[in-house]
Amino acid sequence: MKRNWQSAWIVGGSTGLGAELAKNLAHDGVVTYVSARNSNRLEILSQKLQAAISYPLDITDSDACVRSVSDIIKSNDGLPDLIILAAAVYRPMNAGNFDVQEISNMINVNYMGIVNMLAALLPHSSSNKNVTIAVITSPSGWRGLPGAVGYGPSKAAVINMIESLKPELDDCGFDLRLVNPGFIKTRLTDKNEFNMPQLMDPKDAASRVLTGLSSTKFDISFPNPFLIYLKLLRILPYSLFFWVMKKITVNKKT
Ligand SMILES: NC(=O)c1ccc[n+]([C@@H]2O[C@H](COP(=O)([O-])OP(=O)(O)OC[C@H]3O[C@@H](n4cnc5c(N)ncnc54)[C@H](OP(=O)(O)O)[C@@H]3O)[C@@H](O)[C@H]2O)c1
Repeated sequence: MKRNWQSAWIVGGSTGLGAELAKNLAHDGVVTYVSARNSNRLEILSQKLQAAISYPLDITDSDACVRSVSDIIKSNDGLPDLIILAAAVYRPMNAGNFDVQEISNMINVNYMGIVNMLAALLPHSSSNKNVTIAVITSPSGWRGLPGAVGYGPSKAAVINMIESLKPELDDCGFDLRLVNPGFIKTRLTDKNEFNMPQLMDPKDAASRVLTGLSSTKFDISFPNPFLIYLKLLRILPYSLFFWVMKKITVNKKT
């Protein structure tokens, strides 16, 4: 599959899936800007990768998002061809540890952070240049899953917003995509105490993301068959859906 990207920006690229995406792109000679909050980790990563440029950013700071977009446009002579918004935080949560502060934090980073980035990017859409903007969401945003209180709604909100913007932005130079991976072994899933089906290595997941983005697919979901089962959950009537969820909750506890 053909990849035409000369430049890329990975937001949330200091660890996990984002870091693997940055490594993959930089190894291919793509000029890759890498952002996250922790500047030390970004520096270490960019020193290892010749084509990577560290650009610290906290996406909850809307002014910083605007400044970063403007700086990167200047440095790159236009927006990068590929922008991947991968930043997120996660805490497993159910009724037993329901926590307003943690929910607010997940909504603030995972949803409002993406809103801040889009608000900073939208004024720079242009019919002269096609920029792919991929947002890493999660199948936990498709339906309310056990243990995903806070995280699931934050991802559901992003999915809904991107679906809403997609048709309008198609003609304005922004090619919006959704990436919905299953479980990947990162510090995020290290918090899970249950068995994660088809758990992927971040390298494998990054390579699948880039293959998906090289195609014209809007929804890049993997791995199957796990993701097919999760997609089927979306069309189950509530009675059946809750029966399956209760079974899962009981299995998680035992
Ligand atoms: N792991 C999975 O199984 C899985 C499954 C489905 C979807 N996802 C999604 O995949 C993406 C990557 O997750 P991951 O598993 O690779 O987790 P991760 O290793 O924890 O990576 C998250 C990245 O986001 C950055 N980040 C967090 N808060 C930020 C903020 N306020 N501003 C800027 N950057 C911020 C982190 O760096 P700093 O802490 O330095 O800021 C880090 O680079 C996330 O969107 C996640 O929801 C993961």
